[in-house]
Amino acid sequence: MPDTHSNLLNEVRTLKEEIKQLKTRKKFGLVWEDKPEEVVELCKEKLPVLSEDKTRAIKGNNGPTNIFIEGDNYHALSVLNYTHQGKIDAIYIDPPYNTGARDWKYNNNYVDTSDSFRHSKWISFMYHRLLLARELLSKEGVICVTIDDNELPKLLLLMEEIFGEDKHLGTVVIRNNPKGRMTNKKFSLIHEYAVFFGKTSSSSIKKLPISPEDKTHNYQKAADGSWFLTVNLRKQGVDSTAYNKKGKLSERYFPIYFDPSNGQVSSVKKFEIEIWPVDQKGEKRIWRRGREAIDEMYSQGDLWVKQVSGKYQVYYKFRGGLEGQMPKSMWYDSKFSASEYGTNILDTIMGARETFQYPKSPYAVMESILAITNKKDAQILDFFAGSGTTAQAVIMLNKKDNGHRRFILCTNNENKIAEEVTYPRIKKVMEGVKGLEEITGAEANLRYLKTDFIDGIITDKNKKNLVNKSTEMLCLKEDCFDVVKKGQNFKIFNNNQGKNLGIIYDDTGIEPFKKEVQKLNKKVSTYVFSLDDSAREEEFEDIDSFVELRPIPTAILNVYRRIFK
Ligand SMILES: C[S@@+](CC[C@H](N)C(=O)[O-])C[C@H]1O[C@@H](n2cnc3c(N)ncnc32)[C@H](O)[C@@H]1O
Repeated sequence: MPDTHSNLLNEVRTLKEEIKQLKTRKKFGLVWEDKPEEVVELCKEKLPVLSEDKTRAIKGNNGPTNIFIEGDNYHALSVLNYTHQGKIDAIYIDPPYNTGARDWKYNNNYVDTSDSFRHSKWISFMYHRLLLARELLSKEGVICVTIDDNELPKLLLLMEEIFGEDKHLGTVVIRNNPKGRMTNKKFSLIHEYAVFFGKTSSSSIKKLPISPEDKTHNYQKAADGSWFLTVNLRKQGVDSTAYNKKGKLSERYFPIYFDPSNGQVSSVKKFEIEIWPVDQKGEKRIWRRGREAIDEMYSQGDLWVKQVSGKYQVYYKFRGGLEGQMPKSMWYDSKFSASEYGTNILDTIMGARETFQYPKSPYAVMESILAITNKKDAQILDFFAGSGTTAQAVIMLNKKDNGHRRFILCTNNENKIAEEVTYPRIKKVMEGVKGLEEITGAEANLRYLKTDFIDGIITDKNKKNLVNKSTEMLCLKEDCFDVVKKGQNFKIFNNNQGKNLGIIYDDTGIEPFKKEVQKLNKKVSTYVFSLDDSAREEEFEDIDSFVELRPIPTAILNVYRRIFK
């Protein structure tokens, strides 16, 4: 009897356990085989840091400092989780599309159609990077990921999982290949997609500015220099019918009087001819403006009557609409064509053909950035930079509207692309390219950083090592790269915006650093080596108005603990 009882109890326990597991099991969403990725696994033993290749720095006086990171983006994004958490306004990425045509590598091997884990590997690859990228976005930040039919459905589910279904701001269809891809059985594709997700519910797509000179909008310039559109005074579309749902006749349904002998117009009965807001089908509609506004517009010369197909039509000058429009979900313009504006522009810049396959059109990237943020000093990140189209797009946007946007680009050095294509392209665009009227050079700076590693076992010696190797990370975090003073175990940097950064690598650096700060007589953001979490405030009491103290490396290690678990 007691045996039966305890057996029963055991069974109940097992059942309860199974119910608990069933409750936590995924009910809906993407399921994939998480194949370990070497670059991710590496971070269990080594910690990523950055080192600068100073020979490749580009200095352009007062312009913003842009960053190029050569290395695997998993490592670059890990570092950025310390330096740029919550600071990025816009992420634009164009990852490998996993077409099966050996267009990307996983664990150093090309992935092709014979690989039965092809989709799982791609999802794992993207998952690890998107998780890190999400943390970098500001509260209003938005990410745009371009993709084609191969992985669109999986990408959408993955993004919903990471960002939340309600953060999906839309998926745009971009006509990137007007000639169409060669196919036998399937449709010939002329488009790809750009998927937009916001970080929080405060994120939104922004109105795209309208340039009245742009012929597609039909704006005309008035004698006083203002811009107007010629619009039919009769309303069309929603809420334009003369009778409302309850059958009441609108006050905006009335005749306008017209004298064809002299073109005079009035809302008051002065002339024989009556013009009613009735459309071509005989449907009664309403005027867009009331009587008073109509007479006012006529007296200003902004309203007139014209005969079209034997019928009198009233037109007026509409002076609004220039504040912008919400971007539409289909981008059809030829300027988005990758072959016409991607490859051709890149060939002209590089002075050589086919240095990179399938670069994007810079106009498609510019449009995506403008749809994400209207901040003229936005911080923009692209961690699948390829040939560097995003850098060019940022520079062109700044040129167009006098902006101060900055970019952080990252790409690996597969086929020497970072050294031989991305970096030279950025340099040439900053210098200006003959024959490309929109690329006339820019006042912009660039720092070339590479990912590096230190031993990840947390000992006092390794903590010291991390601090010694943290210089570039701190320069990146504080946006201060120019050395002002280099002493024994300390360094002071500044930037062209008047900001100062101090790094104290060892206790022996404290006193000489303090003397320099007093001489400098400026506020310095100061990182102090400390084995624990204290910033040694008591040692700086005499100069506390000059220093803002932060201990290192604990803050860096805390970020790495969180992301590498
Ligand atoms: C599709 S291309 C981007 C093209 C780019 N939008 C342009 O217009 O030139 C993707 C790029 O990401 C790089 N890439 C792929 N995996 C990477 C990784 N794990 N880390 C860094 N870059 C990577 C590839 O080398 C390739 O250059």
